Amino acid sequence: MTEKRAQFATRLGVIATTVGSAVGLGNIWRFPYEAGVHGGGAFLLIDLFFVFVVGIPVVCAEFIIGRHTGLNVRGAFKALAPKRAWGVVGYMGLLSSILILSFYSVVAGWTMKYIALSLSDFDGINTVEGLHGQFDRFASSDWSPLVCTLLFLLANYLILARGVQKGIERMSNIMMPLLFVILAVFCVNSLMMPGAADGLKFLFSPDFSQVTPSVMIEAMGQAFFSLSLGLGCLITYSSYFRKETPLLRTAGTMAALDTLVAILAGVIIFPAVFTFGLQPEAGPRLVFEILPSVFCRMPGTMLWSTLFFVLLFVASLSSTISMSEICISYLTDELGMSRRKATVINIAVAMVLGSLCALSFGSLSGWKIFGMTLFNLFDYVSSNILLPLGGLLISLFVGWVLDRAVVRRELSPDGTRRGLLGARIVVFCLRYIAPVCIATVFVFGLGIVSL
Ligand code: PFF
Ligand code: NA
Repeated sequence: MTEKRAQFATRLGVIATTVGSAVGLGNIWRFPYEAGVHGGGAFLLIDLFFVFVVGIPVVCAEFIIGRHTGLNVRGAFKALAPKRAWGVVGYMGLLSSILILSFYSVVAGWTMKYIALSLSDFDGINTVEGLHGQFDRFASSDWSPLVCTLLFLLANYLILARGVQKGIERMSNIMMPLLFVILAVFCVNSLMMPGAADGLKFLFSPDFSQVTPSVMIEAMGQAFFSLSLGLGCLITYSSYFRKETPLLRTAGTMAALDTLVAILAGVIIFPAVFTFGLQPEAGPRLVFEILPSVFCRMPGTMLWSTLFFVLLFVASLSSTISMSEICISYLTDELGMSRRKATVINIAVAMVLGSLCALSFGSLSGWKIFGMTLFNLFDYVSSNILLPLGGLLISLFVGWVLDRAVVRRELSPDGTRRGLLGARIVVFCLRYIAPVCIATVFVFGLGIVSL
């Protein structure tokens, strides 16, 4: 490499970009719908377990690899473990990033449609049934979701081709705090609804009879997906970190904020579900049906609703930018492509696969593989299988293969006692706890062994 590698400018920038990658549809769309389908409180509890016990150490492992090598996901493993099978982690990450980008862009496209619908006051529709029908008609039609998906990917292209630092870093600094404020306002509003008690009970009181091995798989997948973990996204971003960035603290802050946003989303959505007598098991459509019903009952519908979907759009954008960056940094570092060419290739592939995912709610809805539509298949395979498998291999690599001095230097550059203790705990988790947890869930959850 001739040029010096780009770096994030400030400590705030590091937090804003990593949190920008983490906070997105995973928190506001996927978490509530998964929790709704898989029993609420029990799902939340298992998700929390995976975020804090497995997630934070593996986030640190990705940060260590990324900052130490200053390379993309494929290059990093090539540099650290030349000619060994570890290289497969790099390729798995690249594949996952494309699969996720494809189905994620469909839902991000829905948020664009809902910005337009908010501005038109939902065409005057304000009943729960009416809004349900409106979503149905939209999602199962062919052109509209397809065009939204392509427009969303085009927006990604325009930002990515200019380079990440100025656009996304600066936008995230402003939009992320605003998102928290808006979520807090909706929380208060939702706690005053008649269904608040039922909603909170659903979210916070675990019913362990609901916990099956497949719920464990889903909750583990949700934790990885939400933390952008296991596919090298955080390796890529941390290759832009400075030497002074404290890795363990950054990992903790990111996981805490990410979890907070998911819980806030749950607190907003479930009281409304019970207030309007809807089913928590509605699946991917849940958020798009519930929230408009809530907005229609607030004074200033158009303002709140537009603001919300704009913020959700921006949160999605800062996540998809980080997904694309995985491939782009690979294509530019390893294959020597120009940034523009790499971006065109990444976005073009996502446009083809994303179109198929968009149609899988409409004319391709009968097209099923393993009983899943393409949209669901891409989500299931990446979140529930490829990401945790990537996480398993990354934790084994940093725990057992990577030179211990490197790990210690990255986690605790000035060797304070506290720093070294933190490093020791992280290494212990990476060697034993994380691999055992992930492997156990795989063995039982995928039915390799059943009780
Ligand atoms: N963490 C993002 C979210 O919760 O919406 C999704 C995501 C971003 C997954 C980046 C993977 C990734 F590389
Ligand atoms: Na997230």
